[in-house]
Amino acid sequence: MDNSVKNIAILGSTGSIGRQTLQVIRNLPRRFHVVGLTAGKNLELLSEQIAEFQPKFIYYQSDNTSKVKSQKSKFLSMEDIARHPEVDTVVIATSGKAGLDATLAAVRAGKNVAIANKEPLVMAGEIITGEAKRCNARILPIDSEHSAIWQCLNGEPQPPKRIILTASGGPFRGYSEAQLDKVTASQALKHPSWKMGKKVTIDSATLMNKGLEIMETRWLFDVPIDKISVVIHPQSIIHSMVEFVDGSFKAQLSYPDMRFPIQYALTQPERVPNAELPKLDWSKIQGLTFEMPDFKNFPCLELAISAARTGGTCPTVLCAADEMAVELFMKEEIKFTDIARLVRQALQDHKPILHPTLEDIIKTDEQVRKSTWKLAGKKK
Ligand SMILES: NC(=O)c1ccc[n+]([C@@H]2O[C@H](COP(=O)([O-])OP(=O)(O)OC[C@H]3O[C@@H](n4cnc5c(N)ncnc54)[C@H](OP(=O)(O)O)[C@@H]3O)[C@@H](O)[C@H]2O)c1
Repeated sequence: MDNSVKNIAILGSTGSIGRQTLQVIRNLPRRFHVVGLTAGKNLELLSEQIAEFQPKFIYYQSDNTSKVKSQKSKFLSMEDIARHPEVDTVVIATSGKAGLDATLAAVRAGKNVAIANKEPLVMAGEIITGEAKRCNARILPIDSEHSAIWQCLNGEPQPPKRIILTASGGPFRGYSEAQLDKVTASQALKHPSWKMGKKVTIDSATLMNKGLEIMETRWLFDVPIDKISVVIHPQSIIHSMVEFVDGSFKAQLSYPDMRFPIQYALTQPERVPNAELPKLDWSKIQGLTFEMPDFKNFPCLELAISAARTGGTCPTVLCAADEMAVELFMKEEIKFTDIARLVRQALQDHKPILHPTLEDIIKTDEQVRKSTWKLAGKKK
């Protein structure tokens, strides 16, 4: 095998980010070799991916083994794939808390960790970034906002004065409280500019997603929370901005397409032409506009900022309560506006542990999932 070919494992290859990672790899075939693929329950798609990429290692969560045809692929846990000596770069494209253990395994094995899955960084950012330093692992952001910040900071010797995360505002931008009270899951799943998995799409509609991204920014770039702000930019062309001490700003622009940040994470520091990626056509862009977020009607953003300021186990409480509340909303068991109500209650009921161990984080997550479920009137 050519030494310049990178061996990639994609955890969550059947999801939105996972599928787009494979699209990038298909377009740049001589650069990458897929050695690991993992899925949750979508075994039909995983089987197709296995047939196409012939990975050495696979994992799936579902116990329905009959559907997965793979004579050549060895079944390993996600953690064992993430730490395997034959893997150079691990793409963490799982959703929610699912990628936490594998992210830590990859980091502790000193891998290049291209991370889209935001919840592990939000819950255990201090531990993950600390372990990455100790083990010489590189954390390469895939989230478009963090990729933008990373690209803006490249080559800058001084720390930024301020980081501005852009947000599309989601499908309910401008809605009143009364309107938000009536919105349905199918409306919330229609994002105006991005096609993503369900959890992150609902989080974008509540603006919780931007709150989680503030915490990711804090850990990925070692920037205090108070230096990070949010601006609504409905066109989703500017993916984030950095202000420097002299008052200059840098921004990164492209059409909203996750293949840009995925490709950059995989090829950096090199930039590589890819004919499949849409190029900005300035004759068609009518304008780039900005407005402040509506903190009153989208309280998840403020809740996340407050959890980030307190730190410790509070971000874990926020993530766990949000994951449960989003699941209930998608099943139409609670209202859209109940998501923030359940998260607020979980934070109020929690006594923070300010310097948690991984065990504290895992225990807090389990407790809050149970209590949020109960609070919503469910038995589990
Ligand atoms: N999509 C985007 O454009 C985007 C942008 C920025 C950041 N992100 C972040 O990237 C992450 C992935 O997002 P996504 O939109 O790609 O999500 P998604 O479409 O829901 O995909 C999630 C992937 O994780 C797998 N998975 C879920 N739970 C699992 C479990 N318990 N064990 C093993 N595998 C499991 C799923 O498998 P099955 O489908 O086979 O069940 C699927 O492959 C999220 O944290 C999201 O916030 C996404």
